[in-house]
Amino acid sequence: MVDTTVDLCGITLDNPVIPASGTFGYGYEFAQLYDINILGTFSFKGTTKEPRFGNPTPRIAECTAGMINSVGLQNPGVEKVIAEELPRLKSCFSKKVMANVGGFSVDEYVYTAQRLDECDCVGWLEINISCPNVHGGGMSFGTSPSAAAQVTEAVKKRVRKPVIIKLSPNVTDIAAIAEACEAAGADGISLINTLLGMRIDLRTRKPVIANRKGGFSGEAIFPIALRMVNDAASRVKIPVIGIGGVASAENVIEMMLAGATAVEVGAANLVDPFACRDIINALPTVMQKYRIQSLKEIIGECVNG
Ligand code: SIN
Repeated sequence: MVDTTVDLCGITLDNPVIPASGTFGYGYEFAQLYDINILGTFSFKGTTKEPRFGNPTPRIAECTAGMINSVGLQNPGVEKVIAEELPRLKSCFSKKVMANVGGFSVDEYVYTAQRLDECDCVGWLEINISCPNVHGGGMSFGTSPSAAAQVTEAVKKRVRKPVIIKLSPNVTDIAAIAEACEAAGADGISLINTLLGMRIDLRTRKPVIANRKGGFSGEAIFPIALRMVNDAASRVKIPVIGIGGVASAENVIEMMLAGATAVEVGAANLVDPFACRDIINALPTVMQKYRIQSLKEIIGECVNG
């Protein structure tokens, strides 16, 4: 029997597979399809202090081996999430969930993180400083080491649960941002969020996405994500969650060799809602194929230095 368990900031996961925020709703929708308790955990839809309607449509553009989204952090707001979504989740998910927190100012990040920190079912706070689809927040905090550190420090001061900072790939040196978050007290980092991209419709000669640009994700970005996970894991000691183009058990193992303790699966859930279930089911066989007895033992095998 192989061992698929990993430790993420003090909480044991049955396996490292975590559906990524924005691709799994608040869980309940997917629980209609399969028992979501087989997941390591999942990161719920990015939640902000106030409800958000999101960006104008079209918000999605198809690409080769991927897609561009510009959703704009649409969500019902933290109070409704606590009052309605989390009680509904409790009826179908008995594990700790990862709360994904968005914001437009340091105070907003702190407020929402504090509110979700008070919820029993929340195990980790994933602070999204990397959304490319909103102005005046999101990615603007994730592209400067000092701004990333400022958010990290402010949130850490006010919460008890582990704080994982979700990083943007739209920077020159992602490892420098990871180091700044670690120095400011982050318990972990997750990367990468989407890469800024654009498509133009040849018939209208206008951008496909109403907001012109959006975040590119999907299998096409896997090698870039893997390289960035490896860069960051080489420079920090805190756990790293690998995200970006993961679509198979083989990809999960590659991410872990690159330095990831756990792995988030994003766009693959939108292509096939059973993607995470199938990856989890395939993991033991793929581990045996590559003579891996325990996933914990391979974390960071390819990390430099
Ligand atoms: C969005 O809601 O626009 C996507 C979230 C993100 O990319 O962080």
